[in-house]
Amino acid sequence: MKVKILTATILSGAKLAEQIRNTITAQIQLRLAQGKRAPVLAVVLVGDNPASKVYVKNKKIACAKVGIVTLNYDLPTDTKHTALLDLIRTLNNDPKVDGILVQLPLPQQINTAEIIENIDPNKDVDGFHPYNLGCLAQGRPNLRPCTPAGIMLLLAETKQNWVGKIAVVIGRSNIVGLPMTLELMQAKLTVTSCSKETENLAQEVQRADLLVVATGNPELIKGAWIKPGSTIIDVGMNRTKDGKLIGDVEFETAKQRAGWITPVPGGVGPMTIAALLQNTLRAVDISTMAARKR
Ligand code: GUN
Repeated sequence: MKVKILTATILSGAKLAEQIRNTITAQIQLRLAQGKRAPVLAVVLVGDNPASKVYVKNKKIACAKVGIVTLNYDLPTDTKHTALLDLIRTLNNDPKVDGILVQLPLPQQINTAEIIENIDPNKDVDGFHPYNLGCLAQGRPNLRPCTPAGIMLLLAETKQNWVGKIAVVIGRSNIVGLPMTLELMQAKLTVTSCSKETENLAQEVQRADLLVVATGNPELIKGAWIKPGSTIIDVGMNRTKDGKLIGDVEFETAKQRAGWITPVPGGVGPMTIAALLQNTLRAVDISTMAARKR
């Protein structure tokens, strides 16, 4: 008797992100042909966190590929809160700046929440401003947080009907877990929000048609917990002692049970950047519409 071994289809963010970049490149070329200027994104990096430097570098490379101009603000670790606030206000008031990205985490002397609240919500290409999170919660999104928005694009790629399906989100950060829960609620899934402290986490995972994990704990989720045929989205990016990147899900064993699974790297990461590019273009449209109303 033959035993059929299930192996998941790999959900490649790298491939989808490339398609999205091609579409955005064409949209920007069209703008330029119409005599409009290229979109401009201000990228603010405070300090020298090595991971942040890599993320920012990759974001700038992606912008350059599609024709988005980046303005670089690399500030020293001891930058004062008031100095960063002044920069944000200057960028808010500059009509040549369409989007503002402040890479997180910020050094401890800076009040991150206050910085985010002071970014013009219509230039907040990360979608972190409370206004943008509120709009998402109410089902009328303005600028949406990039990682969850990118994951929604990946889910569409599976061509599954997600309405009424059981989703479990592990992690409840303002950047990923919380807005991911809101996105899935708006898409009419039945959503449970968990964290690594959740009692009987294995039981929650076993129910999930869709599992999104964003805790930053290497291989927290065991392959044996995965519901057969389910879709697994791994947002984790953890570096092992020997320099390998691994996710929050035990990939090799999970792959034997899941229907779809994102790899690490090459899964969610490229989609976060693709969604950032989309948001920057959307920020241009939002400011154009606002100017027309004036
Ligand atoms: N730090 C970790 N992820 C992100 C992100 O998506 N945007 C910003 N600005 N900072 C981050």
